[in-house]
Amino acid sequence: MNSRTTIHLTALLLLLALPGPLNAVDSPGTLPGLVPRPVHMQAAGGGWTLTRKTRISAGDGTTIEADQLARDLSAPLGWRLPVVKAPPRKGDIAMVISPTDPLIGAEGYRLSVTRDRVTITASTPAGLFYGGVTLRQLLPPEAFNNHPATKRPGAFWNVGCVEIRDQPRFPWRGLLLDPARHFLPPEYVKRFVDIMADHKLNSLQLHLTDDQGWRLEIKKYPRLTQIGSRRAESPKPGDRNQGDGKPYGPFFYTQQEIRDLVAHARSKHVTLVPEIEIPGHFRAALAAHPEYSCTGGPFEVRTRWGVEPDILCPGNDAAVAFAKDVLAEVCELFPGRFIHIGGDEAPRGRWKQCPKCQARIKAEGLKNEAELQTWLNHRLEEFLASKGRRLIGWDEILEGGLTPGAAVMSWRGTDGGLTAAKAGHDVVMSPTTHCYLDYAQAKGPGEPEAIGGFVPLEKVYSFDPIPSELPPASHPHILGAQGNLWSEFLQTPQDVEYFAFPRAAALAEVLWSPATTNGFADFQLRLRTHARRLDQLGVNHRK
Ligand code: ACM
Ligand code: ZN
Repeated sequence: MNSRTTIHLTALLLLLALPGPLNAVDSPGTLPGLVPRPVHMQAAGGGWTLTRKTRISAGDGTTIEADQLARDLSAPLGWRLPVVKAPPRKGDIAMVISPTDPLIGAEGYRLSVTRDRVTITASTPAGLFYGGVTLRQLLPPEAFNNHPATKRPGAFWNVGCVEIRDQPRFPWRGLLLDPARHFLPPEYVKRFVDIMADHKLNSLQLHLTDDQGWRLEIKKYPRLTQIGSRRAESPKPGDRNQGDGKPYGPFFYTQQEIRDLVAHARSKHVTLVPEIEIPGHFRAALAAHPEYSCTGGPFEVRTRWGVEPDILCPGNDAAVAFAKDVLAEVCELFPGRFIHIGGDEAPRGRWKQCPKCQARIKAEGLKNEAELQTWLNHRLEEFLASKGRRLIGWDEILEGGLTPGAAVMSWRGTDGGLTAAKAGHDVVMSPTTHCYLDYAQAKGPGEPEAIGGFVPLEKVYSFDPIPSELPPASHPHILGAQGNLWSEFLQTPQDVEYFAFPRAAALAEVLWSPATTNGFADFQLRLRTHARRLDQLGVNHRK
């Protein structure tokens, strides 16, 4: 037997030993460790090599994504793959838009690696982008090195021949950052967007306002950031009921910085979802504008974590107009469809004592304060609709009855989301039990201080955003899920990354890959490779 026959026989035996096409490439030894796992993957013999001669052949309508792939590979390669408007030659990467391919959905793609070339086919730019992410994952982990190369000029990388067909299970694949409690500089948010996109996550909620800080420039109300973006002190690390004595801020995003962030996120097919908390978690706004509270204040920006009793006064027309004015500027800045109005943890005690709120309840024929919150949400929903936007809020917005077009983000378990979806509302699942990535992921003396709760990696991985009780006809109302990185105890980008990873990788797979193919042991195996990518990216992941 000559050596070539031996190789063929070995390959044949390997193929026969595999349980199905999905495992074809993921067998130990040739493990590319794709995360999230593609829907369909079939390995073949032989391989393709990225060399100095490789070009990206950009078909009609693909140039932006071809440039993006060249840019993403330029740091690890140390050179930039040329993008050409010409048919592919041997060794090239071809990008093709095929709008009529019935097998690839809005964000899906086909990735074909043959000895001659790599071809990425999709019906949309997003699909091409995700095909590019998968191609980068098929390369060695060094392809994720994001420090400009100095000594990799001769690098050539092999990829085994493979046919991949892939598309996401859910359209909303989200994470939440909380720059209100601890600010994150715009440059860091961009990096975070990039890391998300490398996991095919596509929605980043920015929790821009809270009791402890107002972080978005609003031109009509400059006091919001002049007063609201600083606090006298913060809770002391390790002793949360004491103050640390250190003034915090001013920290906020200018409107120009937001525009720049939005453009960056768009280039990575990530939608930024702005969250402006109304009517609760509003103390930083009331410090600047006490006239929009029930009591008139005065107030200071809150210096402890927790829930604040003083909230917006919906009995006051001027306060409602103020909220709309803020949302008007938010709509100008953020082009996405959904605007998040918070709505959670708004104690309604002040409303009970407030003559204006009680007069509103009477005049509008409302039964109670919960219905007053719904009345307010209705005004905000109409206002957002007038700008072509949709309201989304935490599941407390169900309590006084949902407004007709509201979407619900279900955090106190999944029951709120289940009820809303059954009633025909769109839902994003974000239950504390599986999606609170600010909860501890491990127990032990080496783990950092956390807010409480316990959500280990396997728990995240076990999440199914579709409740088993939900009738199939309502499944499309479950848009997806979101992992939340509340930042009371996440003080730095390094903290954010430690809490986020690898759990966000597990959530990415929950949201992208078909429910039936998932298995935690298999994910853990692939995570070994993926951890090396995170290392290359410089992500402070939990090892
Ligand atoms: C929340 O965690 N209060 C939405
Ligand atoms: Zn009031």
